[in-house]
Amino acid sequence: MEGKFYITTPIYYVNDVPHIGHAYTTVAADILARFNRMMGRSVFFLTGTDEHGQKVFKAAQAAGLSAHDHTDKLCENFKNLWTRLDITHDAFIRTTDKGHIEIVQELLQRLYDKGEIVKRRYEGWYCTHDERFWTDKDVKDRNCPDCGRAVEKIEEENYFFLMSKYHEALVNHIKNNPGCIMPESRRNEVLGFLRTNALGDLCISRPHQRLSWGVPMPFDKGYVTYVWFDALINYYSATLYKSENKAWWPASVHLVGKDILTTHAVFWSTMLMALEMPLPERLFAHGWWTMEGQKMSKSVGNVVDPFELIQRFGADALRYFLFREVPFGLDGDYSEGALIGRINTDLANDLGNLASRSFAMLNKYFDGKTPNPDAVEIELKTLSEGILLKIDALLEELAFQKALDEIWALVTYLNKYIDTNKPWVLAKSKETEGKLRTVMYSLMEGLRFVSLYLYPFMPKSMAALYRGLTDGDIANVNLKAVSTWGLLGKDKQTGEIGQLFPRIDTEAKPQPPKAAAATSEKDEGQMNITDIIDIADFAKVKLKTARVLAAEAVKGSNKLIRLTVDSGEQRQVVAGIGKHYTPEQLVGKTVVIVANLKPAKLMGVESQGMVLAASDSEGLALITLDREIPPGAQVK
Ligand code: MSP
Repeated sequence: MEGKFYITTPIYYVNDVPHIGHAYTTVAADILARFNRMMGRSVFFLTGTDEHGQKVFKAAQAAGLSAHDHTDKLCENFKNLWTRLDITHDAFIRTTDKGHIEIVQELLQRLYDKGEIVKRRYEGWYCTHDERFWTDKDVKDRNCPDCGRAVEKIEEENYFFLMSKYHEALVNHIKNNPGCIMPESRRNEVLGFLRTNALGDLCISRPHQRLSWGVPMPFDKGYVTYVWFDALINYYSATLYKSENKAWWPASVHLVGKDILTTHAVFWSTMLMALEMPLPERLFAHGWWTMEGQKMSKSVGNVVDPFELIQRFGADALRYFLFREVPFGLDGDYSEGALIGRINTDLANDLGNLASRSFAMLNKYFDGKTPNPDAVEIELKTLSEGILLKIDALLEELAFQKALDEIWALVTYLNKYIDTNKPWVLAKSKETEGKLRTVMYSLMEGLRFVSLYLYPFMPKSMAALYRGLTDGDIANVNLKAVSTWGLLGKDKQTGEIGQLFPRIDTEAKPQPPKAAAATSEKDEGQMNITDIIDIADFAKVKLKTARVLAAEAVKGSNKLIRLTVDSGEQRQVVAGIGKHYTPEQLVGKTVVIVANLKPAKLMGVESQGMVLAASDSEGLALITLDREIPPGAQVK
């Protein structure tokens, strides 16, 4: 297909709570999809959820739901996030779709018939949590090298994909196609891995009794397909049953995080080779976000919640921050200070002010109508028009940050242009009227280019800016057709743009009047005005539901109870509730814990959180829920 652009995100594990890492990949894909659409290319943008596997099955059981109902519910979390982030995917695939399952089975059968899949006796170390096998070499002290949990020795018959056959072909493919794995460092990493490791064959089945929630092997109903084998095929299956035009394969870009590079670069590539299908044109592995220097993890409770950020700062600000702050491909560190800094400096000051000043001056000097310029500002015209080719090339390399640098050069130029030409001085004299017309026209025309180029990054605000300038709908423009200087035209009545990017107030809140605090007789439970906290302070506290799995009194204490809880992940919490509850009363209860409290030792026992309870003269009452909610759910 001429000028086609097919882009994918990984399909996200449906039982994960959507976090900033998921948002990162999907926004990257959205920026590229929007930009390529604007360039007049035919775009197919695919995202979705990975829904098979024993973990999902167990979580469904724990929630008292069928696996189907459970995944129907959970995939909405991702769909909601994509709506909130203004993601324009063309299709959303779920691996439990009938259409997908049929294609996975068809491909498995094809490989089996070709002799690419064989049955073998197998012995290995199995990690139930990760649902994967490890070799003797991988396993230290009988623990999983990935999650650290105990592994068990399993001997059984399984189906193997003869991946080892493709070692040399894969090396040649990567060597002959320099852009097929990016960034360069990741390509070298895969080549290095292939140089030092002989590719083995891949175990692609699990006995049905151990893993029931999966795609049955078409040639042996006693087995289901290994989740990754099922999941990777989504990129191809969606092109057949999720789109009218079935000619999208191969993908132009698969976007993945660095942790899942091998499954894509090695498993997926060799699967396609065995199927004699073309390989994706590009695989791009991006880096990971940490939270103030720490790895994000559910158990620490420091996972950045994108819903919360969107609510507080807006989707555009978050989208901009993620791609402005860190070069795509490297790891990045999230901090609220950095996000607010970007919003206040780049968005509110540089861009928001530029737009509001320009519109205000146009209203004042020309009743909001674009004037007829006396001359063409050649330097500004060349800069504005020239950006298109540059960002086209940079986005082809997924260099989002550099593309933003190029666009920001125009924002900076326009701000300087105002300061140098001082329209308010030009407006004072009849003699400079011609110059004022040129300056105001050029400013508005420059802003039109800014809105066009920034639209893929910040669709909502840039659509508003473009509408204010042209009364047109930016979503339907062809960038090549409209990136010519002068198309704004004279005598155009401009509209309202409102405040594009409000400043985030980081100043301390004013102190309440002293008298209020002094006169209040504070008893417990009565709120004093000085106790009021900002929503931002509250948002720092991560509350979660946790199911008590085990409980025992801490030796030597009549108050402390050591609880083992499931809060999405297993952890230990020590609670001072021993005078009010026996350990037996606690097991099976779903309580609420503070999940991001710094771990502390109580009578020598580490507590990784705090259980919430209310108290009165009669004693304590644990905070519980009035209906069943799975452990690990956020309490807000
Ligand atoms: N289901 C598999 C993918 C199958 S694709 C055929 C999977 N899912 S996932 O939900 O665990 O992860 C999806 C993506 O989120 C991965 O690309 C991963 O790199 C990314 N991230 C998870 N945590 C992240 C950060 N902290 N930062 C950036 N991305 C991160 O793996």
